Amino acid sequence: MNQTASLPCAGVKVPEWHFRMMRDNVRNASIEAAIASCNVVEKTIVEIGTGAGLPAMLFAKYGASRVFTCEMNERVAAAAREIIRTNGFQGRIAVIAKSSRQAILDGDLPSAPDIIFTETLDAGVVGEGYEVISEDIRKIAGPATVVMPGLVRQVGFLCTDLRAFEQNSVFYECGLDLSGFNLFSKRSYFSVGKDLHDPTPLSPLILVRSYDYLNTSSLDPVEHQVVAHSSGICHGMMSYFEAHFGQFLVSSRERGSHWSMAFHPLLEPMPVESGRHYFLKADKSGSIGLISI
Ligand SMILES: C[S@@+](CC[C@H](N)C(=O)[O-])C[C@H]1O[C@@H](n2cnc3c(N)ncnc32)[C@H](O)[C@@H]1O
Repeated sequence: MNQTASLPCAGVKVPEWHFRMMRDNVRNASIEAAIASCNVVEKTIVEIGTGAGLPAMLFAKYGASRVFTCEMNERVAAAAREIIRTNGFQGRIAVIAKSSRQAILDGDLPSAPDIIFTETLDAGVVGEGYEVISEDIRKIAGPATVVMPGLVRQVGFLCTDLRAFEQNSVFYECGLDLSGFNLFSKRSYFSVGKDLHDPTPLSPLILVRSYDYLNTSSLDPVEHQVVAHSSGICHGMMSYFEAHFGQFLVSSRERGSHWSMAFHPLLEPMPVESGRHYFLKADKSGSIGLISI
């Protein structure tokens, strides 16, 4: 007999990071402080990505008259509805079990709400659908709509980190060349645990990109001149983000944050020299290239 078949959510894929995220007190406190500080009384709110419903309920708790929140995972949306009912906010929060794109197409979200909120950030910012979500936000935002977060800054540094590089590539094993498998290597970025990794920086921290959901050029390719401060083999770039929710900052850089660091691998490791200048290019997926000048 299949012992899991009778469990209520057997077979439903809900990423396990939801729990770590919901228990990230620093993140939660910053989001609550941002909502508490921006006078949401009688305001209309749209949220993209309900999760368990925490931000939606905070908006209602601080006085929003109507919260429209969409969640593309139907089972998560159903759970959020129940949680919202348990907490007594069902009268002011509508959970729409659809992606933001579908909810807009179906006319489920109001135009020009007072605030649009989304916390759909992964370690490298864009992996949870930033491009689509920013397009959707621009479709419904009015001239006075406040978007939270208003700005997400991604900072990074070139580094030696063989262990991170090896998580994403293979060469010789048992004397056999397996490098043909590298066509499946992740080119953009992947998460690496802060506790397990100690990358050796080869450059100072640089501002890689500023993301603004209302700005259509946020995803344009960027190019930076970087001066290496140490010599070594560069395996890629390690990055963090700082998201500005009103005047409150949520940062994946905090040791206690549930977000990991993002490692952006180079296609091939490259020697860099202290004092030498390099061009660092990054595309909208977070994939990087490094050219010595
Ligand atoms: C990182 S969780 C955050 C949940 C909640 N907002 C919070 O802060 O506690 C993001 C949620 O957004 C949902 N999501 C991502 N992109 C979405 C989209 N375009 N439309 C609707 N839901 C989306 C995911 O399924 C996930 O449950």
